[in-house]
Amino acid sequence: MKNIQVLISKRDINKKVVSLAKKINKDFKNKDIIIISVLTGSVVFCCDIIRNLNINFSLDFIRASSYKGKTSTNKIKLISAENLDIKGKDVLIIEDICDTGQTLAYIKERLLKKKAKSVKICVLINKNIKKMKHIDIDYTGFNIGNDFIVGYGLDYNNKYRGLPYIGILK
Ligand code: IMP
Ligand code: MG
Repeated sequence: MKNIQVLISKRDINKKVVSLAKKINKDFKNKDIIIISVLTGSVVFCCDIIRNLNINFSLDFIRASSYKGKTSTNKIKLISAENLDIKGKDVLIIEDICDTGQTLAYIKERLLKKKAKSVKICVLINKNIKKMKHIDIDYTGFNIGNDFIVGYGLDYNNKYRGLPYIGILK
């Protein structure tokens, strides 16, 4: 696409997904975990990850939103986490991107409050910027700079999610 500069190719994403899934398979071997995918951006990544898993897991979704256009609004909305039955369970959050860290910090805190036994985080992209909240990420695909990116689930005003690569929106 003319207004998008490719940053991470489809091939590199696929290779990374396979290696992340391999680590997850190893770390959660013989465990029964709950995978929580953060809607909407992480669905593409999540679908690819789970097709490479050979462990027991159940899958759930939550919705969190802090972005309007290209800017983070600081206010996080979390929808549909109330019915999650995660007490005593090992949870793996799958998220597309960690930017300021607020969304993941907030979600993790909420899940720990609901008495999850453990909460681990897997992100495809981590932006190398100063985090507004401290956050430990257990599985990271790629570290990038502070560009606004789209594709492979990531959007700009709900567009470009279907691109098979990740690109910088110009
Ligand atoms: P955080 O709370 O600032 O870490 O923001 C995380 C959320 O903002 C992600 O789940 C994305 O939905 C969105 N986001 C952050 N950076 C980008 C980007 O470069 N492209 C698209 N969405 C982004
Ligand atoms: Mg998101």
